[in-house]
Order: sequence, then structure tokens, then C-alpha cells
Amino acid sequence: MTGQIPATLIPGDGIGPEVTDAAVAVLDALGPPFAWDRQLGGLAAIEAAGDPLPQATLDSIRRTGLALKGPLTTPVGGGFRSVNVRLREEFQLYANVRPARSMMPGGRFENIDLVIVRENLEGLYVAFEHYIPIGEDSHAVAISSGVNTREGSRRIARYAFDYAVRNGRKKVTIVHKANVLKALTGVFLETARDVAKEYEGRVAADDRIVDACAMQLVLNPWQFDVIVTTNLFGDILSDEAAGLVGGLGLTPGANIGLHAAIFEAVHGSAPDIAGKGIANPTAVLMAAGMMLEHVGLGEQRRRLEAAIGLVLNEDKVRTGDLGGTATTAVFTEAILRRLAA
Ligand code: NAI
Ligand code: MG
Repeated sequence: MTGQIPATLIPGDGIGPEVTDAAVAVLDALGPPFAWDRQLGGLAAIEAAGDPLPQATLDSIRRTGLALKGPLTTPVGGGFRSVNVRLREEFQLYANVRPARSMMPGGRFENIDLVIVRENLEGLYVAFEHYIPIGEDSHAVAISSGVNTREGSRRIARYAFDYAVRNGRKKVTIVHKANVLKALTGVFLETARDVAKEYEGRVAADDRIVDACAMQLVLNPWQFDVIVTTNLFGDILSDEAAGLVGGLGLTPGANIGLHAAIFEAVHGSAPDIAGKGIANPTAVLMAAGMMLEHVGLGEQRRRLEAAIGLVLNEDKVRTGDLGGTATTAVFTEAILRRLAA
């Protein structure tokens, strides 16, 4: 096919290759819209190239400005720095967009349709961290500093309100902890409120303290439309939102910058089920859908999402995380059949 869009594919670790293979097969049936440049990242890259984020991978994304990425395993505590965080910094992917939408009736909640817009570069994830040793204990005291800037807060707030306008959303809720972290999240709240004024009459705005928001998400998730928040809170609330709509097997995310965008599932490498062929590829398929929309192929996104809906709800082909028995391959076949119909 001519007019294929160059894009980087990073299969990633754990279930990453299984679910990204499924995504590539499904995208092939939709065009194929993308000309893939396969690159390594994470543990797979350490094994092959001795570096979790090889130069070739960076060069590829710099060239394409567009990537679909499987999850990358990050060691807890010690070890190398999160490759995900490094990619976000490298390409200044300041907005992390994570929609959570009910896709199947009969779940814990129905008709949820909310979007979390997470600041992706600042806050506590700058990881200015160190230990202070006392006596024998090298980890006696742990210190971490967060950084939120006026500029970064304005940029993410504008992104959230613009997103609301573009997508016909009615309200943006600013989520913070400015009652305790008065400077760190105070500047975010203050700036986001200022931005909200620019959208008065077009998009409604309110604000919530993060702990109350976490509870309200469970009690009454329908009150939320778009949530904009700082890095750590966005990380936590987006997993919570994934739980509301059926789990990590369903929810996608986009990391958006001015010159590049990286699409991925919210979930990680799922070491407990890796290699078994039972992972749910829906989340990465939904991420591929966001990627299609991003490059102006909204029609293909709608076809893809319609096929996923039919497979889950009409064909009732579901993977184990959704209570079904389908393997990744069986689920993917079912999607391909729907796309061919
Ligand atoms: P995880 O998301 O990998 O797994 C949590 C639970 O959800 C596990 O029981 C897993 O089996 C299940 N699960 C996740 N995705 C699934 C899918 N598609 N289908 C069926 N079940 C699924 O989170 P965990 O275990 O905390 O992290 C594992 C590794 O992944 C860590 O090294 C972490 O740093 C990394 N990670 C990477 C991310 C990324 O690259 N964007 C995001 C989150 C975690
Ligand atoms: Mg997370």
C-alpha cells in the first residue's frame, strides 16, 4: 500500500511481544496504515544490545515521531532508570492521555466514559532522590523532591481543556493535593484554575483533592468527564479508572509531545502470565486506535473499536482477565474475522 505512515514498533518485555504481535496483525487488516520500524527497548534491549534504551530506538522515534510500544519491565528499587520515564523526557511527551470507557455491560460499573490527562514530565517523577546514611544504615533517610513548574502546569491544563473542546467533553476536573503539598501541587491548581477561565462558557471546570477524587471515582464515577492532574496522582488514578471499567487488559494510553507521540497500554509486562499466550491484547489494540486517530485515521479507529465491541459482546470471545477462556491468538482471530466481515 502506498502512503503508509512510518512508525516505530517496540514489542517490549513480558507479554509485550504477544500483544503487539496481535496489534500488528489487526492493523495489517486495516490498511496496513503503518510501515513499522521494529526497535528494542527494556530488558529485551539489554539482552540484545546491553542498553535498555538503545540509540537506534531513539533515532527511530526521532525520525518517525510516532511509536507503538509494548510494556517495558523496570526493576523496582535499584537497577536502571525507568525507560518509560526516559522516553517521555527525551521526546518531551508532556501529556499522558488515558481514557477509561466501559466496553462490556455487566461489569462492576456501566456507562463509564472518562479520560485522565496526566502531566507526564514533572512532579515526583523527576526522581530527584537520595538516601542519607546514618551509622551502618545506608538507607536511614530517604529524600525525594518534586518539581512542578508554572509553564508545565499551564501546558498540561491547556492540553486537557483543548482535548475537551476537540472531543465534545463538557467538564474538566483539576485534581491536586494543595491542602498539604501547598507549593508543589498548589502551583498546579492555581495555574490550572487560570487556564480554566480561558475556557469559561465552553468547558466547565471544578477541582478535587486527590484522595476525595479516588473515593468519588468508586462511589460515583459518572460525575467525571476529563480529569487533569499531576504525574503521580495521574498514574494512580488511571490504574483505578482502569479497574472501574474491567481492568488493565482494556485501557490504553497515549504519551503526546509536540514532535512525537508514543502509544501503549496502561498495563505493564505482566510477568505472571508472560509467555503463556493468554494476555488480553485489547488495551494495546485500543492504543493502536488512539494512534490511528492521532494520524487522522479516525475512520479506521472506529472500525477497530466496533470490531472489539462485537467480539467482546456479541461473539463473547474474552480472555481470562475478563472471565473468558480465549487465548490471545483466539481473541485476535475473532477480531480479524469481524474486520473481514
Ligand atoms: P502489570 O500491569 O504488568 O500487571 C498487573 C496485573 O494485571 C497482573 O496480574 C497481570 O497479569 C495483569 N495484566 C496486565 N496486563 C494484562 C493483560 N493485557 N491481559 C491480562 N492480564 C493483564 O503490573 P506489574 O506487575 O505491577 O508490573 C510488571 C512490570 O511492568 C514492572 O516491571 C513494571 O515496572 C512494568 N510496567 C511497565 C509499564 C509500561 O511499560 N508502560 C506500565 C506499568 C508497569
Ligand atoms: Mg502506572
